[in-house]
Amino acid sequence: MAAQQRRRPGRGARGGKGSAGGNSDMRNKGLLLTAFAGGFIAFVIFIIDSMQHGETTLALEFENITAASWPVPCALPAATRGGNPLCQTSSCARMVWDGLVPMEDVDQLRSTADTIMNKYGGADGGTAQTQHDEYWHTHIDKVTYGSFDYTCLLYLSTYRQNFTGGRFVFEDKSYRGGDMHRVVEPKAGRVSCFTSGAENPHHVEQVASGTRYALTIAFTCDPDMAIPQPRATEATTSSAVPSNL
Ligand SMILES: *[C@@H]1O[C@H](CO)[C@@H](O)[C@H](O)[C@H]1NC(C)=O
Ligand SMILES: *[C@@H]1O[C@H](CO)[C@@H](O)[C@H](O)[C@H]1NC(C)=O
Repeated sequence: MAAQQRRRPGRGARGGKGSAGGNSDMRNKGLLLTAFAGGFIAFVIFIIDSMQHGETTLALEFENITAASWPVPCALPAATRGGNPLCQTSSCARMVWDGLVPMEDVDQLRSTADTIMNKYGGADGGTAQTQHDEYWHTHIDKVTYGSFDYTCLLYLSTYRQNFTGGRFVFEDKSYRGGDMHRVVEPKAGRVSCFTSGAENPHHVEQVASGTRYALTIAFTCDPDMAIPQPRATEATTSSAVPSNL
């Protein structure tokens, strides 16, 4: 009501003297036609867009997947990928495991994530500095984060149950000249791993509602980029030897 009242004087001004009912009817019809044309164009763009890429789902939220893997041709031969060549696999792939991490650990990690996010803000807690900070752009992990050779994600919340949007999408080229999107639906306790090279370009759909939690675990073949073993692990592995660590 208020918006309409505000619009009226403007329209009158644009229409000059023409305050006749017929004139405004014509304008309304014109507006309606424009709206229809706009809607039609949007619809056509939507159809063309969905024709440009096929979509298939690798892992649905309600599925229970035990170590499934999908091979993908490596973008680079193992010998040219850098780092320790023994660490580079000759084949590339994507994998999904459910139930690999016990649910109590998943819950513990999620509450830790909550604490951290409350303190420092989540993915949208601050203004993005670069495109790399915006997860919904297509990227290759090896390019975005030079040290990555294998990327693993541990999901701490579940698509549809805890958030909408936020599906993980592999983008494969050369599907009848277009793209083929292969989707992993996040699920608490689900681990998804893939080789980090150009064979696995991907993006995450923008989260539409709720909170999506994912823990990224990166493996590198470059000893210079590696971080030392955490102390707790050292203490555990050397527990047979008296130690004052
Ligand atoms: C998933 O499958 C595994 C192996 O078949 C089974 O041990 C586990 O209990 C299942 N988990 C759920 C949540 O159904
Ligand atoms: C996610 O949804 C499930 C089912 O509704 C609920 O049990 C669980 O607590 C939710 N987790 C989070 C992090 O909100």
